[in-house]
Amino acid sequence: MNQAQNSEKLKSGKVAWKSPSNIALVKYWGKHGNQLPRNPSLSITLREAVTHTEFEYHVKPTGEGLTVDFFFEKKPATAFRDRILGFLEKRMPAFPFLNNVHLTINSNNTFPHSSGIASSASAFSSIALCISSIQQTLSGNQKKGNDFYRQASGLARLGSGSAGRSVYGGYVVWGALDGFNEYSDDYAVPILTDVHPVFKDIQDAILIVSDQKKKVGSTAGHALMEGHPFAGARYDQAIKNMNSLHHILKTSDLDGFVEIVENEALSLHALMMASNPGYLLMEYNTIQIIEKIRAFRIKKNIPVCFTLDAGPNVHLLYPNEYKAEVVEWIDEDLSEFCSGGKWIDDGIGQGPEQI
Ligand code: PMV
Repeated sequence: MNQAQNSEKLKSGKVAWKSPSNIALVKYWGKHGNQLPRNPSLSITLREAVTHTEFEYHVKPTGEGLTVDFFFEKKPATAFRDRILGFLEKRMPAFPFLNNVHLTINSNNTFPHSSGIASSASAFSSIALCISSIQQTLSGNQKKGNDFYRQASGLARLGSGSAGRSVYGGYVVWGALDGFNEYSDDYAVPILTDVHPVFKDIQDAILIVSDQKKKVGSTAGHALMEGHPFAGARYDQAIKNMNSLHHILKTSDLDGFVEIVENEALSLHALMMASNPGYLLMEYNTIQIIEKIRAFRIKKNIPVCFTLDAGPNVHLLYPNEYKAEVVEWIDEDLSEFCSGGKWIDDGIGQGPEQI
């Protein structure tokens, strides 16, 4: 291939990533500046709830600008296209190719369309990985090392804070924390300390209490932390829980894990209730399920616990060794509290993959 052909090839191409959602164990709630977190957070990346995104790019002559076509599940999605376009326009200084390019973006989720699962983390992480890959290809580099993932994480974080954590598998931290030099507010990093085997195969049964759009979105929720009477105490609590959870993850302390994870979930929702205006995202069935999880834990002496996203659905976390028993119990006793009996058999995953 001669140089002209090679540079022509570099100007058009396709790149695709599949990237998962994640569920925070220590929650990010409250932000400042350019999508920077008020406190560090820690999540597990999921295995099944994944977004596939493909970017087809054609670099255009200088001055022709950025144009985007966006298809979700093969259909044009104008509202999301406009959001992406706004997002990409702001990224032009860091990703100069965006100044003159046409992008055709095709995206779809593996999880049910209206499942109430937060798709922004998987969507923005897959988009960020595609943009970072294109930038790399255009600069003649293919190496997917730490720098690549940090850049993609920082970019994803600007689209949706929690998306920054989805560019890695396993346990992931976003946000500076004293004593951990590698942690940053600008991007997420995978947990580098040893995680005890008991936590390596945590399962997450996502119990779909409601598949409706949330009453109050997370952007509004984060904003309500400004001037919140409990804000200072919350940020201190998150730091304390981060430190405890780091210690717990190195040991086999499942009781400690359960305590922190449920404390974080209920604290998040308590903050919403105590906001001004206050609001409730838990529903009647959310509370029914929480009570059942706590009763099952005591009765069976099995370390099941719950966490909640900013919505009514319950993430039931448990070690894989109890899977058969837990699945039977969900089908018998919990699925009646789920919308249409729906739940997703998910768990900790390996992170995104280029496809
Ligand atoms: O990433 P956002 O802006 O949608 O906020 C996510 C907030 C929580 O999901 C409630 C917590 C978290 O850390 O993921």
